[in-house]
Amino acid sequence: MFIRSKLLGALILSCALSLSGQEKKSFIVDVSQPVAEVSPNMWGVFFEDINLGADGGIYAELVKNRSFEFADPFMGWKRLGKNISEGTFLVLSRKDKPNNPRFLRVSSSSVPDKVGLQNEGFRGMGVKQGLHYDFSILYRQDAPGITLHMQLVDTAGVVIGESTLKPSQTGTAWQKQQVRFRATKTEPKAKLVIWFEGKGTLDVDMISLFPEDTWKKRPGGLRADMVQLLADMKPGFIRFPGGCIVEGRELATRFQWKKTVGPIEDRQLIVNRWNTEFKHRSTPDYYQTFGLGFFEYFQLAEDIGAEPLPILNCGMACQYNTAELVPLEDLDEYVQDALDLIAFANGDLHTKWGKLRAEMGHPAPFNLKMLGVGNENWGPQYIERLEVFKKALNEKHPDIKIVASSGTDPEGERFDFLDKELRRLKVDFIDEHYYRSPEWFLSHANRYDDYDRKGPKIFAGEYAAHTDRTAGTGNKNSWKAAIAEAAFLTGLERNAEVVKMASYAPLFAHVDGWQWTPDLIWVDNLQAYGTPNYQVQKLYSTNKGTKVIPIHMGDEVPSGQDGIYASAVLDDKANEVIVKVVNHNSHPVEGNFSIQTKGRLTKEVEHILLAAGLEEENSIQEPNKVRPSTEQLILKGKSIQTDLSPYSFHIFKIKMR
Ligand code: AHR
Repeated sequence: MFIRSKLLGALILSCALSLSGQEKKSFIVDVSQPVAEVSPNMWGVFFEDINLGADGGIYAELVKNRSFEFADPFMGWKRLGKNISEGTFLVLSRKDKPNNPRFLRVSSSSVPDKVGLQNEGFRGMGVKQGLHYDFSILYRQDAPGITLHMQLVDTAGVVIGESTLKPSQTGTAWQKQQVRFRATKTEPKAKLVIWFEGKGTLDVDMISLFPEDTWKKRPGGLRADMVQLLADMKPGFIRFPGGCIVEGRELATRFQWKKTVGPIEDRQLIVNRWNTEFKHRSTPDYYQTFGLGFFEYFQLAEDIGAEPLPILNCGMACQYNTAELVPLEDLDEYVQDALDLIAFANGDLHTKWGKLRAEMGHPAPFNLKMLGVGNENWGPQYIERLEVFKKALNEKHPDIKIVASSGTDPEGERFDFLDKELRRLKVDFIDEHYYRSPEWFLSHANRYDDYDRKGPKIFAGEYAAHTDRTAGTGNKNSWKAAIAEAAFLTGLERNAEVVKMASYAPLFAHVDGWQWTPDLIWVDNLQAYGTPNYQVQKLYSTNKGTKVIPIHMGDEVPSGQDGIYASAVLDDKANEVIVKVVNHNSHPVEGNFSIQTKGRLTKEVEHILLAAGLEEENSIQEPNKVRPSTEQLILKGKSIQTDLSPYSFHIFKIKMR
């Protein structure tokens, strides 16, 4: 029990000024009164192929338009040669590969007029000195004659790595051949040149180049530095594949998971919806090859210890775009996709989809426990469709938790309608999204204080503080945005009884290929760094504890009064009290934290501090400008006394003996 007299005393203390005239705040952390469990997967990540997040980003393929399936088959490619004669390069289509019909027929009549192809990569190719690169190609030929001579070239055209490959098989069947070679120089914007030397005709497809240093060294895998940043967050879940990409501009370009599994040459490429979404950030070369498909998403989740959380199309295309709807009577195919996905993830090897998972290299189930139906859908049309999904899923898979959308905004008519309907339907999780100003985040830290504890749980599925305007180009990943999020997240943590999962969005952005700001992690072709917002998410995730315990400032819960925000958790496993505090003031505040426990505490307190000027950001040049520092404090009795510097986020970790 929080004793009244203690409260009064604390209230007087909480408003005092110290002898130095500095504002002083007193906090009481009550270890004996856990109020809720913190979900083990509370803090996670949201992945979408936006801002070159997948192709050109985490999917380490360096060749753009490797199968000539972009609307313009030569986008990303340049034909090389002095006098290229008619018919040297022919784009042909085959009927037996409907998902990847196009290939290139190259005819060479030999030196001195050699012909070649150059691929520009995704805003160039990031190449590292001394590293091996794996070149591979699908080909067929009637007779050997042409030798491929590959060269990596820097921006001045100087060769920085080369090799040759002589296609050896003949006949009508497609063959794969590959060769590994080393780069001699680091270059962020290299290009790949392939000379076709000799005389003859060669059909080519799936021209590919991967670095050897992919995540876990998997051939054709993911960029290790980007995955590492995710792994470092120890995320509790990974939501994929989006985002609006789930919906598509129209139903034909919605995300269909079945088209993203199996051999990569049979995964049907489609245009990326972010290709054309923003005229001011048009990205005409943005397509989805699905080299990062649903198998790889599940594998990534497993690798980084995160629960997989796939979101599927509910029979509605993006309502900001075409708002195309599947008639209710035709929804079966969509519902079946959901049921089959559960089979793909969890089914045994005798099922069609479980067998495919095993063939792809993962006989053990992926242990899927949650499924999202619809991304940012709204209106009665969404509810009607959701009900159909829910009925089928609950009947066949009562253990799978259903995540449902509450639309694009965290308030307003659409939200109110959906919130009421989703509670009526008793969905497991309501997915709330908020892209709002830093001021909104600061003034909504108590958003969940009055949420119904018995109703559906909350998944804060997409959020970010936008310093300019939503989806504008001027939003910054500045400390101003990050500290507002840190303050707001104290409210999620305090309300962990109802908020079970949270993820910042979007996750990745390429400095030369983004459409949306702000983003959690920025990359170029060679480097990746976490923003101040990343540091905040990571600090929450790696200090999430297991139980919420009360923290009071006077008789109040610190949720923005006098610019102070705080929450506290207990970590049962580490036997630790973890206190999080934000001082959102331009002046320092003296903090006195009294830990109320009958148990003994170790003297040393770990103090993690994240603070910066409000406009400060990290960058490729200065990736660690805003990052946490750690020091040791000493308890006075059972209290911590320390200065909370201006605009600062603190974590205090106190071990219990
Ligand atoms: O995160 C970027 C976009 O914001 C997502 O695709 C969408 O769900 C939201 O509108």
